[in-house]
Amino acid sequence: MNLAQIVADIAAEMAAEADRGRVADYIPALARVDPAHFGIAVVTHEGAVHEAGHSETPFSIQSVSKVFALTLALDRIGPPLWKRVGREPSGSAFNSIIQLESERGIPRNPFINAGAIVVSDALLAGHDARETIGDLLRFVRFLAEDEGVEIDGEVAHSEAATGFRNIALGNYMKSFGNLENAVEEACKVYFHQCALSMSCRQLAMAGRFLMNDGLQPGSGARITTPERTRRINALMLTCGHYDGSGEFAFRVGIPGKSGVGGGILGVVPGKASIAVWSPGLNERGNSKLGSLALERLAERTGWSVF
Ligand code: DON
Repeated sequence: MNLAQIVADIAAEMAAEADRGRVADYIPALARVDPAHFGIAVVTHEGAVHEAGHSETPFSIQSVSKVFALTLALDRIGPPLWKRVGREPSGSAFNSIIQLESERGIPRNPFINAGAIVVSDALLAGHDARETIGDLLRFVRFLAEDEGVEIDGEVAHSEAATGFRNIALGNYMKSFGNLENAVEEACKVYFHQCALSMSCRQLAMAGRFLMNDGLQPGSGARITTPERTRRINALMLTCGHYDGSGEFAFRVGIPGKSGVGGGILGVVPGKASIAVWSPGLNERGNSKLGSLALERLAERTGWSVF
């Protein structure tokens, strides 16, 4: 298999696609991103890196950050987290509130917004938001082995300024006793993690531990246990694309986590960590060409987990 050629071919095909989806427009910093962008980076288990297109251009990783926040929160507080957030796909939009009423403030999973706000609250664990955001940034830089990973201040500010629904989710869960800290603190952590800015290369590097039983290749650092790694991957497969998770599993068959910035992190256990980015989204808020690129990559490499 010539992986370099496959990656280059997919980038060329995506560059030629006319129907690129619709760029998120709820904040100006995302609305002005050029939909012509497409990037892909594949880091193999052996350590080879194959990239093409705009693979070195930083973009707002948005909800992809939920994978890193969950990993860190599990490390900090462990299994008690699962009393506060579930492990079922929601079948609802990423920012939906409806299930929280009948399910008594326990979000379905850590990858919808309500679940991620609970994870942010758990991450606070006695620290303030600023320290916690710093911890998360250091963690992601360590995972990517790249000090160039940043939080985009403009995006973080806009998330906070327009995040009425997330604040509502926080308040609603607080009323059920499922947030330990002030809603503002939990949301501040959440807004800043959404504003992490990374390139495909940095994102694929940061995801390596997920293809490697929780060990960071190279340094050999243990990021998390093999058991948790399997579970995080399982959640990515079942919940990583919100109400589009079934379709993504059907078409691609790789654990993946998407964000409204147009990025997707894909994990092929034992084989590869993949990041794709194309800012235009489909009707479920997942990257249109990012999904298509991963579908073609899975077809041509045989990397579906099924
Ligand atoms: O929380 C929000 O509404 C935004 N920061 C979007 C997060 C996100 O990426 C959801 N998904 N696709």
